[in-house]
Amino acid sequence: MSPITLAVFEASLMRCEARPDFFDVFYEKFLSSSPEVAGKFAGTDFARQKELLRTSLHHLLLVARDPKQGPDPYLEEVAVRHGAGGLAIGAHMYDLWLDSLLETVRTCDPEFSRDIEGAWEEVMMVGIHYLCANYEGRHKGHKG
Ligand code: HEM
Repeated sequence: MSPITLAVFEASLMRCEARPDFFDVFYEKFLSSSPEVAGKFAGTDFARQKELLRTSLHHLLLVARDPKQGPDPYLEEVAVRHGAGGLAIGAHMYDLWLDSLLETVRTCDPEFSRDIEGAWEEVMMVGIHYLCANYEGRHKGHKG
C-alpha cells in the first residue's frame, strides 16, 4: 500500500477521532443496517466496544503499513472471535460494516473526498480480508 494512502487514512482517522461522537455515529448506522447485525450486538457493552474498535483501527493501520510482519496477534484473536466457532460473522455483514464506516467518515471528516474514502477502503479491506479468510479457523485448509 502506498505511503500516501496510509498518510491520508491516518490524517482522516485523527480528524474523525477528534469528533467525540464518531463511534456513536458508526454503531448507530451499523446496527440499523440490518436486524441480523443488531441481533449480534444484543447485550453488548458499547462503551467498551467503542474503545475496542478504536484500538483495532489503529492495529489495522500498523498491519497495512508493514504487511511483511504477518498476522498481528491482536487481529488473530479478533478473527477467532468473529469466526465460525465464535460470533459467526458471515462475509455479507462485512459489506454492511464497511458501508456504515465509510458513511460515518463522510459525516465526520470535514475534509472528506474520494481519495479519503479510497484510503479508508484500502486499509479496512486488509482487516476484512484477514477476518473473512480466517472464518473457519486459522489452521484449517492449510495442509497443502
Ligand atoms: C474488519 C472489521 C471488524 C473489526 C476490526 C472488528 C473488531 C472487533 C473487536 C476488536 C471486537 C472486540 C473483541 C473483544 O471482545 O475482545 C469486536 C467484537 C464484536 N464484533 Fe467486530 N469487528 C469487525 C467486524 C464485525 C462485523 C462485520 C460484525 C457483524 C455483526 C461484528 C460484530 C461484533 C460483535 C457482535 C462483537 C462482540 C460484542 C460483544 O462483546 O458483545 N464485527 N469486533
